[in-house]
Amino acid sequence: METLDFDLIILGSGIAGLTAAIHTTNASKGNVKIAVITKLHAMRSHSVSAEGGISGVLYPDETRDSTELHAYDTIKGSDYLADQDAVEMLVKNAPTEVRFFDHIGVSWNRDDKSHIQQRAFGGMSIPRTAFAADKTGFFMMRALYDEVSSMKNISIFHEHFAYGLLMDRNRFVGLSVIDLATGSSNIFKAKTAIIATGGASRLYSFTTTAHSTTGDGIALVYKAGLPLKDMEFVQFHPTALVPNGILITEAARGEGGYLLNSKGERFMEKYAKSKMELAPRDIVSRAIITEIKSGNGFKHEESGLGYINLDLRHLGEKMINERLPMIKEIAQKSINLDPIKDLLPVRPAAHFTMGGINTDTFGRVLVDENKTPASGLWAIGECGCVSVHGSNRLGSNSLSQCSVWGRIAGNAVAKYLEINKSSVSVSKEVAASEERKILDLFNRKGSTNPYFVKSELQKTMDENLYVYRNREDMMKARRRIADLKEAFKDVYVQDKGKIFNTNLRDVLEIENLLELAEAVTICAINRKESRGAHAVVEYPNRDDVSWLKHTIIYRTARGTGISYAPVKITNWKPEPRVY
Ligand code: FUM
Repeated sequence: METLDFDLIILGSGIAGLTAAIHTTNASKGNVKIAVITKLHAMRSHSVSAEGGISGVLYPDETRDSTELHAYDTIKGSDYLADQDAVEMLVKNAPTEVRFFDHIGVSWNRDDKSHIQQRAFGGMSIPRTAFAADKTGFFMMRALYDEVSSMKNISIFHEHFAYGLLMDRNRFVGLSVIDLATGSSNIFKAKTAIIATGGASRLYSFTTTAHSTTGDGIALVYKAGLPLKDMEFVQFHPTALVPNGILITEAARGEGGYLLNSKGERFMEKYAKSKMELAPRDIVSRAIITEIKSGNGFKHEESGLGYINLDLRHLGEKMINERLPMIKEIAQKSINLDPIKDLLPVRPAAHFTMGGINTDTFGRVLVDENKTPASGLWAIGECGCVSVHGSNRLGSNSLSQCSVWGRIAGNAVAKYLEINKSSVSVSKEVAASEERKILDLFNRKGSTNPYFVKSELQKTMDENLYVYRNREDMMKARRRIADLKEAFKDVYVQDKGKIFNTNLRDVLEIENLLELAEAVTICAINRKESRGAHAVVEYPNRDDVSWLKHTIIYRTARGTGISYAPVKITNWKPEPRVY
């Protein structure tokens, strides 16, 4: 087992991670030696799949928009669970980030005055989502990857899987990592780390996200005994294509698309009269499921999935080809339907993890309920819960979150390293025990098939912790997950090879999913109200008296601990959330 030494490890290579790498480099004038570690090739990070755009107030005078209004929309969208100081940081810094991406080469759609165009998104009062057709994430990633590739202080370790977070009390010291190409385990030692591994939507089988979104960074922190926040809040995107779950961007509705039930009605009128199809996602998802359950939906024959229709036909060929070309291609290639002339079958799918690693507003990972930050450890992007989305994220606020906190964390690391120069160490015993973990897994003669555990886990989450939840189902899920965790102790790695052992990687991912499924379920059972994406049949209302607070969950030697933390309110008092 080798030990590699860096100043900074960035775990994850999506928009948050690569943005942080660039800003650390710029702030330190290239003097910070950085390892970017990613289990994929960096350009396969799930950020490349982001479609509709990035939010930010770009032309306030012309559009009569303001950062205050962006903050208000975000906080109301969050059902008042967002920390308002963090939201203020998001909205004030987002415009700078859109312009930063302009400078590094993102080909934003522009109007005839050469202004960056902005489209409407759910819950936003004014069109403020900048976009590059419906391939925004891909263009942002391409620009970032080009930049990072030209920086000599940055080494990218593609296809390396981190399986252990090494701390010396509250100080980060390193990661244990498998090089998937060779199967060798190594220690990556560093004074600082930024975790930017994305979300955990693969807790579900019907999801808009890649098979790789298994919440590894979140689980790594949780397994090391550090707390997670607000894990009960899982975002279901209203319009995933049936039957495959591929994202049909909210921009399709932003550009004017309709949702129709089996009676041909634009049913959103009943649920959000003023916003219609552009209500926030939690509301649109509930409306779709309510329609399907009331018999106003359709049934997909092969999969048995209920759905409603997305109608884009009236937008016309020119608009669809110019502004929504990818979803047209997706529908044509995957289900042989053309949105220019056909209705698209859609239903809600797991899309975004609103909870995650508990951080302060600067993205520093917190080690306890007293807001004590770990030394040298940040978590940003979807895996970190800086708490800008609360219980329901507005579409297009995630790309701004990733880039705003990429810069904040990158600059903070450069500053931290100016002061904290002494190197860290990982003992031989720790390194040996990390190596043993993998050997033990290889040598285990178990009888449980890991893929059985994974599919049962996803089925459990699909069935019991979807758009509407009830106590009986959630308790059922908790028991089933406990059984699956027990079964997992007897799991085996069938492939004993060293080179690109995806079977071993899958087993490590499934272990992570099990931990996170349990955390989501426990947090969901404990929150006895409905707020944002957590809609509980027995508690249909938001209850600010008892539940205007964040859930904190952590593992101890004695089991799982839960506590609660206050929500930071600055200017916006909670109000009824009507659209
Ligand atoms: O619908 C979309 O394009 C997704 C955007 C987002 O999740 O921010």
